[in-house]
Amino acid sequence: MTTRAVVIGVGHYLPERVVPNSEFEESLDTSDEWIRSRSGIERRHFAAEDETTSDLAAYAAKAALEHAGLEPDDIDAIVVATSTPDLTFPSVATMVQSKIGMTQGFGFDVQAVCAGFIYALTNANALVVSGQARRVLVIGAETFSRIMDWTDRSTCVLFGDGAGALILEAQVGNNTNEDRGVLSADLNSDGRYRDMLYVDGGVSTTGDSGKLRMQGNALFRQAVEKLTSTAHTALSKIDLDDNAVDWIVPHQANIRIIQGTARKMGVPMDRVIVTVQDHGNTSAASIPLAMSVGVTEGKIKQGDLLVAEAIGGGLAWGSVVLRW
Ligand SMILES: CC(C)(COP(=O)(O)OP(=O)(O)OC[C@H]1O[C@@H](n2cnc3c(N)ncnc32)[C@H](O)[C@@H]1OP(=O)(O)O)[C@@H](O)C(=O)NCCC(=O)NCCS
Repeated sequence: MTTRAVVIGVGHYLPERVVPNSEFEESLDTSDEWIRSRSGIERRHFAAEDETTSDLAAYAAKAALEHAGLEPDDIDAIVVATSTPDLTFPSVATMVQSKIGMTQGFGFDVQAVCAGFIYALTNANALVVSGQARRVLVIGAETFSRIMDWTDRSTCVLFGDGAGALILEAQVGNNTNEDRGVLSADLNSDGRYRDMLYVDGGVSTTGDSGKLRMQGNALFRQAVEKLTSTAHTALSKIDLDDNAVDWIVPHQANIRIIQGTARKMGVPMDRVIVTVQDHGNTSAASIPLAMSVGVTEGKIKQGDLLVAEAIGGGLAWGSVVLRW
């Protein structure tokens, strides 16, 4: 017998405003055709001016609570993955706590950029299996539109805003790979690559929040290899291989990275959840958003084995294997 952190609810929120690729053609030397063919992105959502990351996160949290049939005070802890918090502090998690009306427990943020949700889920799993919390709300939420340089066509067409949330609950498992819940995880970072993707501002440097800078091509070359290798490491920790995978739920940065990773893993594209065409890269929100869409579309079902994998600024990358 063992304690497993089992997903009992999922939900997401996307801001109302949908921005098609064609909108960028008005202000930049770019085209719908270039953006689609190089990234797979067709549209993305941008938050309204008065909408913050904690607003998006709270909407996604409420959707997940409703899906699980729970009240806010049934939750013991909130972990939010974000690189675009409302304020330098307090954490987005504590803002969500008050916005959903949760009057007890605790919350904190995790910052690992596009790999943030993998890090948050791994931490939330640790809280559950160590007995620190029985139910944890794990959220990925971002407003990357706020850190775009709108004159840089190589970045501003790629990102979007949104939020996704899961609820994990402690349940008793048989200590086999047939158990529901988080089965394995693998986390990595290598700060020598920090110049590949960063924001050129911050509290202790410029004093403002800065804009995103990316060496897209160099990052692309790292991505497929590191994503495949972390997925294989997480699977091998529990003596599984690619054949066991029902769904890859990848970070949604670029369809060519998603396809390249699936090909290297030998998993056909009809077993991969793809939302990049509709959401763009929503950083830490992309995996829980994809999970929520995958469930809503009737693809991900109870008992399916999922591998979620992501890479982003740091570089930081990792994967989680979980049985839904
Ligand atoms: C950003 C990315 C889509 C660019 O695609 P690419 O095929 O690598 O394109 P390149 O960067 O080599 O650029 C090719 C050309 O397109 C141009 N270009 C860049 N953005 C453009 C745009 N929006 N519209 C038109 N042309 C564009 C470049 O200036 C370059 O022109 P040049 O050859 O005259 O210098 C791709 O590199 C990528 O997705 N990288 C990984 C990004 C990622 O995963 N980031 C997040 C990790 S979380």
